[in-house]
Amino acid sequence: MIVNTELENKGDLFPSQIIDFKKDVDKLYFTAANDVILELTVVRDSLLRFRYTTVGNFNNDFSYAITKYASTGYNKLEIEEKEDVYEISTSKLLCVISKEDMRKSIYDVNDGTLINQDEGGFHWEESYEHGGNIVKMSKVSNDGESYYGLGDKPNHLNLKGKRYSNWVTDSYAYGKDTDPIYKTIPFYTGLHHGKAYGIFFDNTFKSSFDFAQERRNVTSFWAQGGEMNYYFFYGPKMSDVVESYTDLTGKPHHLPPLWALGFHQCKWSYYPESKVKEITSTFRKLKIPCDAIYLDIDYMEGFRCFTWNKEYFPDPKRMVKELLDDGFKTVAIIDPGIKIDKDYSVFKEALENDYFCKRADGDYMKGKVWPGECYFPDFTNPEVREWWSGLFQELIEDIGIKGVWNDMNEPAVMEVPNKTFPDDVRHDYDGNPCSHRKAHNVYGMQMARATYQGLKKYSYPKRPFVITRAAYSGTQRYTSTWTGDNVATWEHLWIANIQAQRMAMSGFSFAGSDIGGFAEQPQGELFTRWIQLGIFHPFFRVHSSGDHGDQEPWTFDEDVTDIVRKFIEIRYQILPYLYTAFWNYVDHGTPLLKSLVLFDQEDVQTHYRTDEFIFGEQILACPVLEPNAKGRRMYIPKGNWYNFWTNEIIKGGKEMWVDADIDSMPIFVKEGAIIPKFPIQQYVGEKEIKEITLDVYYKNGKEESELYSDANDGFDYTKGRYSLRNFTLRGKSEELIINQYKEGKFVTKYDTFNIQFHGLPFDIVEVQLDNEKIALKSMKANGITSIVVDKNFSQLHIIGNKS
Ligand code: GLC
Repeated sequence: MIVNTELENKGDLFPSQIIDFKKDVDKLYFTAANDVILELTVVRDSLLRFRYTTVGNFNNDFSYAITKYASTGYNKLEIEEKEDVYEISTSKLLCVISKEDMRKSIYDVNDGTLINQDEGGFHWEESYEHGGNIVKMSKVSNDGESYYGLGDKPNHLNLKGKRYSNWVTDSYAYGKDTDPIYKTIPFYTGLHHGKAYGIFFDNTFKSSFDFAQERRNVTSFWAQGGEMNYYFFYGPKMSDVVESYTDLTGKPHHLPPLWALGFHQCKWSYYPESKVKEITSTFRKLKIPCDAIYLDIDYMEGFRCFTWNKEYFPDPKRMVKELLDDGFKTVAIIDPGIKIDKDYSVFKEALENDYFCKRADGDYMKGKVWPGECYFPDFTNPEVREWWSGLFQELIEDIGIKGVWNDMNEPAVMEVPNKTFPDDVRHDYDGNPCSHRKAHNVYGMQMARATYQGLKKYSYPKRPFVITRAAYSGTQRYTSTWTGDNVATWEHLWIANIQAQRMAMSGFSFAGSDIGGFAEQPQGELFTRWIQLGIFHPFFRVHSSGDHGDQEPWTFDEDVTDIVRKFIEIRYQILPYLYTAFWNYVDHGTPLLKSLVLFDQEDVQTHYRTDEFIFGEQILACPVLEPNAKGRRMYIPKGNWYNFWTNEIIKGGKEMWVDADIDSMPIFVKEGAIIPKFPIQQYVGEKEIKEITLDVYYKNGKEESELYSDANDGFDYTKGRYSLRNFTLRGKSEELIINQYKEGKFVTKYDTFNIQFHGLPFDIVEVQLDNEKIALKSMKANGITSIVVDKNFSQLHIIGNKS
């Protein structure tokens, strides 16, 4: 007879004394008396991985987040055993592990600064309900330490004093305090004593982070199952931490087609065909540039994926072609829920092949979404992903759809309290069978990955374009993303700004919000301010539920239309600048948006700023976030900045008022910058561009700029057919020299640069191009002097007279 029916609660358990140490190439194993093993991998000199087991052996090492292309290798690895500690040093870090309790302290090996230290360190609670452990890690949090990252959290940029959890969730009309929402990116950057480090907790179970909220001097993170498995990155520059995280979890596999960086118009839903055409032709009639038009769920037959409602869209192929002839790329939505319908081929195929997710006891995972009762493919099974990718053949190859929008892939389930699958649903997890507790956070990522594989195959030789709502770390390799179902309020404009910046510092730059707000309807003023912010978001799309009225640029009043046009035109002008920044993101993991702290971490004024950010490398933008504003106060980072509208030079390092009536917004350009610009086009490729404008912002000193160009689509650029121009500007009081260094085999369509000088402190008396004096046919208008030169110059020497 059992008399004690109480569960034994052992509370938190900790590693005991280390009794054994072993080294295996780049892996070090520390074994404690109570069977805890710490596996420390030296991935790079500035990147360590810590992995723990409590049972004496590790499970299969598998991660969806880590890319096979991640850089590895170190210059130095030394291990020294001392009386009480082990000391592991690389050329960048010193990690000290206490023999008594396995706690670790990590130092900058070169100057001895303590970067990060375990408080309780690794500990765990046994999970009798599910098996395994609730795994925990606690770290010392210092006064003045700041925290950033964590994906799409809709609250203040600095995470200090907050607690968050990660469980991707369909969050219609979420607010500033809603947590969790759509994405799980368990990566943060800590900043202390001017030095930045990063922690990526690669665990897909529901996880939580507490940034000195519960206890003032402790930051901790834990997960409901799986391993304590985290990566430690050292900067000391925050940008190095972000780049190194992006390198580990993957940069986008390739550049987006340039059109995807244009403006996108979306609504739930544009139908029938005549409505779609009415929208696109209005763009052209009103001369508002636009590159993409979206088909939301109503294009399908009863919301069955990969079908068409033939009443609304009798001939999709013809329509898509006609739209394309007018410069519009059609993007169609595809959700994961497959309608239970024995006459529907996708359903039949998946059923026959056993591709649907099942409950623990063998029944199918059944849930309601738009089509009614559905089953759901198990995208964590590679065979299912392969099948899914094949389903896109007709849509892409035959009909000519150019992009696919994956939605509801948290996965979202309607009319159930937890909004998703129950925990017992089974997943393949690439041959590591598990429950939904472990697979939930990656389900959407694997769906987007399978979609990407399909688009890559069938769009070839063009580049694929995918957009997803749910994501886990690493999803940026395959797709772009948006921030889900926001609301048409001023607070949401603030949230959108923070989310795009936060995503960028979480390795996922190709992100944007539903401009204008998805739920409810914005006033014209809010819509205008949101477009102004949107031109600086890598993914630039208006979307709305359509329940509360229209949200096209012309649905407000004429002033709104005119201002919105003006800003979208600016976006199209700066496309070569954005494309260059995107190339840097794809090549080095450089985030496309830099919050001020990421731009200048040494200036403590930046640590709690949320609104201002750097777009690319040299443009500073700050949205106006309140109604009836004629401008706003903002912080201008250190250095000298040109007001984009007036060319006035501002000395940074201070907060100031900036005028910005509704037809303007605070935009500044870093002095010395060379900003490449296209002429205005109604869509990418409308014009054959023979000349690029280079806006040159004089500086007394030196600054570097870049211009990347390629065919704007296709993969030839990966074989060296690109053109990279590096410009070095050197200004003195009476001269300005621009040197150009070129790389790459691509012959650009443009032949000349129209160079426009801003802020020259002298009148030009002579111009030398590659040491030869050229006839001075410069034009001067509005204080801007411009000259046209051959694109292949090596040196441009502007000689002036002090005016
Ligand atoms: C979800 C999406 C939204 C979409 C709607 C209908 O709410 O987040 O963008 O329009 O579903 O498909």
